[in-house]
Amino acid sequence: MMPCCTYVTQLVISDELKLQLCTPVRAVAHTHALQIEYSPWYTDHEQNGLIDTARELGVTIITYSPLGKGILTGKYTSADRFPDGDIRRTIPRFSEELLGKNLKIVHEFQRLADKKGCTPGQLPLAWVIAQDAIPIPGTKSATRLEENWGAGDVDLNEDQLKEIRALIEEAKPESARYGAAALAAVGH
Ligand SMILES: NC(=O)c1ccc[n+]([C@@H]2O[C@H](COP(=O)([O-])OP(=O)(O)OC[C@H]3O[C@@H](n4cnc5c(N)ncnc54)[C@H](OP(=O)(O)O)[C@@H]3O)[C@@H](O)[C@H]2O)c1
Repeated sequence: MMPCCTYVTQLVISDELKLQLCTPVRAVAHTHALQIEYSPWYTDHEQNGLIDTARELGVTIITYSPLGKGILTGKYTSADRFPDGDIRRTIPRFSEELLGKNLKIVHEFQRLADKKGCTPGQLPLAWVIAQDAIPIPGTKSATRLEENWGAGDVDLNEDQLKEIRALIEEAKPESARYGAAALAAVGH
């Protein structure tokens, strides 16, 4: 019994659940929640089947880095804004070389947030919630925590969701979401 418990516990909290693990685990226990990176900045799990499988199995999706590691708030406009030692300095899509291009989605989110009357950070969080997922944004500031909490009151109608979806497709950031060593550590 012990190995199964360990296995299932890992799956409940794992951030990089492998799709093929779902079936054997299903035979021993229900997986209640899956933590994955998911935001308008990173939507690959929509394409690789992970999100569809979670929905099919009734697994709640908890999304880390729902603000694209802060980039979607508009706070970071160049790579040298990241403090020394910050993980974003190791991530190709935040590199100075690509950031200019990759900021297109950020600028567009700022425009849509203005139109909607919410903050640029609240809009991606509201989008994640509208995907029936639970965002867990990180912040060191109580004020920003309150701001982020307020995303729960931002209702997006069908037209607004369509507009955001079009933007996500059109302004997809280029390159990997982690550097090679970190990707290898999560099994890629
Ligand atoms: N399971 C995993 O593998 C995994 C991986 C990564 C993260 N996580 C967890 O997921 C949580 C969130 O992910 P994350 O921290 O990577 O990324 P995130 O929530 O997408 O972004 C956090 C960044 O956004 C900034 N921020 C937050 N709210 C803001 C606002 N309203 N306006 C402006 N800036 C704002 C924060 O800066 P300030 O602190 O200065 O506000 C921080 O730099 C964390 O608690 C982390 O523990 C889990």
